[in-house]
Amino acid sequence: MASASRQLLARCMSTSAASAKKLAIKHVTVIGGGLMGAGIAQVAAATGHTVVLVDQTDDLLKKSSKSIEDGLKRVTKKMFADKPEAASQFIAKTLSNFSTSTDPAAVVHSTDLVVEAIVENLEVKNELFKRLDKFAPEHTIFASNTSSLPITDIANSTTRQDRFGGLHFFNPVPMMKLVEVIKTPMTSQTTFDSLMDFSKALGKTPVSCQVNCCAFMSG
Ligand code: NAI
Repeated sequence: MASASRQLLARCMSTSAASAKKLAIKHVTVIGGGLMGAGIAQVAAATGHTVVLVDQTDDLLKKSSKSIEDGLKRVTKKMFADKPEAASQFIAKTLSNFSTSTDPAAVVHSTDLVVEAIVENLEVKNELFKRLDKFAPEHTIFASNTSSLPITDIANSTTRQDRFGGLHFFNPVPMMKLVEVIKTPMTSQTTFDSLMDFSKALGKTPVSCQVNCCAFMSG
């Protein structure tokens, strides 16, 4: 075999080995700091992930941060019933994993996973993902928490349909164990497996879905 062909073959083999490897998700960008996004950010930071929460204004992010701190106080009251010092340490450690931003394009450059939990509007979600697709590194997985929109329609706004899936959490996120991990016909097995592992790392019970249950029920 000619040396150029051997080199090409070796490159192809190493690329497919790399793309077949599950992604260990450490850095998470959560977009939308409302009811769901704040809950997702809280749980991800509490389980040791580095989390950046994004919303449109600093005032909205202040409200999200307050709701996360209140949520952590509630959770730690149960977790560390007679150990207020351990509770304070847990809250401090969790908050040290957490930061906020109003500029998603600037924060996705080193993120492993983007979880979108913004307004339930296909056009607005597509506009966001189309933009982030240009700024996020190649390995970054995109996921939407949409309740009713087809994940395929959102994934089609990007060039990374194989690295796009649904992560459908339930309200209140810190309490509800179930997460639907949604695989479109274009989602790669590696992406799906990485999202399943991430959900387990959050302490959740992931279930595999082709479509989220609310979208299915709403027809
Ligand atoms: P919400 O209205 O509480 O929060 C949405 C947040 O997104 C707001 O803070 C808003 O300022 C922000 N936002 C809107 N456009 C943005 C943009 N372009 N960039 C950055 N931030 C933006 O909404 P909620 O209830 O948290 O829902 C979010 C998503 O989660 C929706 O897709 C919804 O279908 C889904 N979902 C909601 C559940 C629920 O029980 N509320 C349950 C499961 C999924």
